[in-house]
Amino acid sequence: MTAPDHQSAPTHRDTEQVRRVQESYGRWARLYDWFARATAGLGGVRAGCLSALDIGPGDTIIEFGCGPGVNLPALRDRVGPSGEIVAVDITRPMLERARALVVRRGWQNVSFVQADATTPPVASADAVLATFVTSLFPDPYAVVRGWSEIADRVVLANFAPRGNWAANAALWAFTQLSPPLFDMSARDSLDQLDRRTAASRRALEDCMETVETTRYVFGTVSVNAGHREL
Ligand SMILES: C[S@@+](CC[C@H](N)C(=O)[O-])C[C@H]1O[C@@H](n2cnc3c(N)ncnc32)[C@H](O)[C@@H]1O
Repeated sequence: MTAPDHQSAPTHRDTEQVRRVQESYGRWARLYDWFARATAGLGGVRAGCLSALDIGPGDTIIEFGCGPGVNLPALRDRVGPSGEIVAVDITRPMLERARALVVRRGWQNVSFVQADATTPPVASADAVLATFVTSLFPDPYAVVRGWSEIADRVVLANFAPRGNWAANAALWAFTQLSPPLFDMSARDSLDQLDRRTAASRRALEDCMETVETTRYVFGTVSVNAGHREL
């Protein structure tokens, strides 16, 4: 197995990485919110995550790295008023935007936790969702393993250069235009995305009974869904 460097306690490098993420996502929260909502239906990625989660009324779901809350309306739709959603993010301005959305809609069963998703603040749930988050972690393998102990369904969406030449070139250009949002520390941004997305999938393979991968947006977005039999 080629799992990247594991660690049990946060290292100086991790702390620095979290600070960088908070700084860039904090600064760009408003623009990100607009962009994410404008593209929410693009390619069917978010709808694909929802159906892979396979959740229903009364379920409890944790969304790690919820950002400004783009997935929350669909999650709330599925779990209904009797379910529970815990939205976790490390960046306060992102959480504030997500909270404002929930207040506007008057939902009572969505709670927010400002915390580092690499050391989950919640012990158990029916399902875990993380869209465009795990490739920000230096060690996604270890983090996704931890999440797999929390729930029997874990669904992850990530960018990965698995499309044709033109699609990969477009993805590369996107990473170059907005490097802080990808937290690019590697010289080859596509290679880093690919390695981190693959590491997340490997963790699901090692912890879950089944793992299904579906590709979207000309092969540049992978949704990996890990399930354990209920
Ligand atoms: C690309 S945005 C994705 C937001 C949302 N999931 C979406 O699909 O639009 C990444 C989010 O992950 C959050 N994030 C990054 N590292 C995190 C960490 N270690 N713990 C919790 N949240 C984190 C960022 O603050 C940001 O809101």
